[in-house]
Amino acid sequence: MKTSRLIKRIVTGILLSASVLTSAQASKKVTIGAVFPMTGPIATYGQESVNGIKLALKTIIKEGKVEINLIVEDNKGEPQESANAVTKLIMSDKVNAIIGSVASSNTLAGAPIAQTNKVPLMTPASTNEKVTMAGSFISRTCFTDAFQGVVMAKFAYENLGKRKVALLIDNSSDYSKGLSRVFTKKFKELGGKLSSDKNFSYVQKDTDFRTLLRKIKRTKPDVIFLPGYYTEVGLILKQARQMGITQPFLGGDGWDSPKLQELAGKAVNGNYISSHFSSDDKDPMVQKFVKEYVAAYGQKPGAMAALGYDGILVMADAVKRAKSLSNVDLQAALVSTKGFVGVTGAITIDKNRNARKSAVVLETTTKGNIFNSKVNP
Ligand code: PHE
Repeated sequence: MKTSRLIKRIVTGILLSASVLTSAQASKKVTIGAVFPMTGPIATYGQESVNGIKLALKTIIKEGKVEINLIVEDNKGEPQESANAVTKLIMSDKVNAIIGSVASSNTLAGAPIAQTNKVPLMTPASTNEKVTMAGSFISRTCFTDAFQGVVMAKFAYENLGKRKVALLIDNSSDYSKGLSRVFTKKFKELGGKLSSDKNFSYVQKDTDFRTLLRKIKRTKPDVIFLPGYYTEVGLILKQARQMGITQPFLGGDGWDSPKLQELAGKAVNGNYISSHFSSDDKDPMVQKFVKEYVAAYGQKPGAMAALGYDGILVMADAVKRAKSLSNVDLQAALVSTKGFVGVTGAITIDKNRNARKSAVVLETTTKGNIFNSKVNP
């Protein structure tokens, strides 16, 4: 045997036994970047997400198969900050993967950077259709607005018996614009109509909605679809009720925040939203999560807490299954997630890297969001 071959054999032998040793003794170590709105007008999304993630990390640590070094970046709810955070996590922190963000416009700003650098990015919460179209390294563990919008259109038409809807859209949000399109298409298909062909819209950080609401009132809708985020939604509901608008408002997951009740006060009552999770769910796994979350944070978990919790567990599971920790192997493991049972439902990533999952319809009340029904895809 030639010396070089011999050396190679010896070296391989050593390497082999070393890797046997590591897999038996140590866990797989990864660095995961988390991009969330920890401050700003949608801060509860980030705070709840990170709470959920940290709760899940306790389980992951206890299991001992995966070690996650989590680096949280605050994107302040802004697209540009999201892009900067993704760049920093990839370039300086050399993360293995990224979890985040929440608002679709934020994720849409960061996703192309992750895609160009081939770093797996998985959002636990961004529902806009376009998000995963950013490329093969971008996936999500939640349903999309193509589903959520249909759920609410049917609920409005079939369950509430409404026929004439007014739309009030957040023009600074891809989520709001996309969701209102899906809703309108389905609502019309069912036989409903819009109360006006004019679009009523606002932008994030607006605070006075009375002129808009006055115009909407004049169109005499029997229901108002408001696919916004909780800060503006809270004010809109309050101002609407003060102006004598009594029709129910309908929304999507963007309303799902512990702050909504605080902002809207009594005006929160009698409205409905679609979301990802209900803390009322009798499922023992959900109730165990709710109990642990309340014990840790003194508050019931909302959708974002549950989505963050499931999102990081899906990632840890993928790390366990991945052939190696290379970006390609990790992404392959992430997108082959099948039937992962989480607190937001069973998660299977489809060929477009989206998750097909059930949605819940919740009634918003001063006592919190109350479970109304569950809708399967
Ligand atoms: N789905 C929303 C979006 O894409 C984000 C969101 C998810 C907000 C869950 C609250 C709860 O913009």
